[in-house]
Amino acid sequence: MTPDVLSHREDAVLTLTFNRVAKKNSITAAMYQTMADALRDAAKDDAIRVVVFQGHETIFSAGNDLGDFLNTPPAGDGSPVFQFLHAIASFPKPLLAAVCGPAVGVGTTMLLHCDLVIAGDNAAFSMPFVNLGLCPEAASSLLVPQMMGYHRAAEALLLGEPFMAEAALEVGLVNRVVPPQEANRVALQWAQKLAAKPISSLLETKRLLKKGQMQAVAERMNEEGVSFGRMLREPAAKEAFTAFMERRNPDFSRL
Ligand code: COA
Repeated sequence: MTPDVLSHREDAVLTLTFNRVAKKNSITAAMYQTMADALRDAAKDDAIRVVVFQGHETIFSAGNDLGDFLNTPPAGDGSPVFQFLHAIASFPKPLLAAVCGPAVGVGTTMLLHCDLVIAGDNAAFSMPFVNLGLCPEAASSLLVPQMMGYHRAAEALLLGEPFMAEAALEVGLVNRVVPPQEANRVALQWAQKLAAKPISSLLETKRLLKKGQMQAVAERMNEEGVSFGRMLREPAAKEAFTAFMERRNPDFSRL
């Protein structure tokens, strides 16, 4: 367990809260491991029916911790980030997220695996993988075009610029937009509403909803993972990460 992810259970609802606000809730290997373990345990625990992810009113997550990625890039399927991605994609019970402020990289792609997403009106979603010398992850190269159509997906994934809560609502990435100070409360209310329903119906409905493409998602996630792992070690990503740390613009002119 790391204190950078808080775990709180209220009746049958487990809430996982990013708690690394000073570093914009960027996600370290220890945080991925904690969340992967929490999801695996929650899947088996009959006392838990619904899981909610939340951040802070000002920041959901700045995505992968870039220092972590630069110094100890994840190696292979067993690495904490891939454990987390597989756990979230195959989680059998309802998953909710309350998102306020920036949701960068995996901060956005993890939402593709949540069943319901509440956004604060200050939420800003982005998938800037290309700007970091990387490629999509979390099966986003499959799920984003399905969700928003090819050209909007290409804009989001090739340009990597942020889009705000209302645009996310329009393309179907989020279910509701509320004032930021209400997002966590609304997500908890929805989670409690779900937790009061018959678990067998929740499980079967989610299974059927996902059935059409469980395998395609797993395959795409693996394929992306191989490329992402290789690209993390290549010069473009190293330049992008170093530039971020040095607070300068990256120079890709020779790459
Ligand atoms: N990894 C590691 N540290 C990060 C981080 C990340 N992804 N994002 C932010 N931080 C750290 C900064 O280095 C800074 O640390 P410091 O105070 O010790 O210098 C602190 O968090 C605050 O970040 P800052 O950039 O000053 O905040 P901001 O409010 O101006 O901007 C963001 C917030 C999220 C827009 C901006 O931090 C950002 O773009 N982060 C990188 C996002 C990214 O590329 N993620 C990877 C996706 S794969």
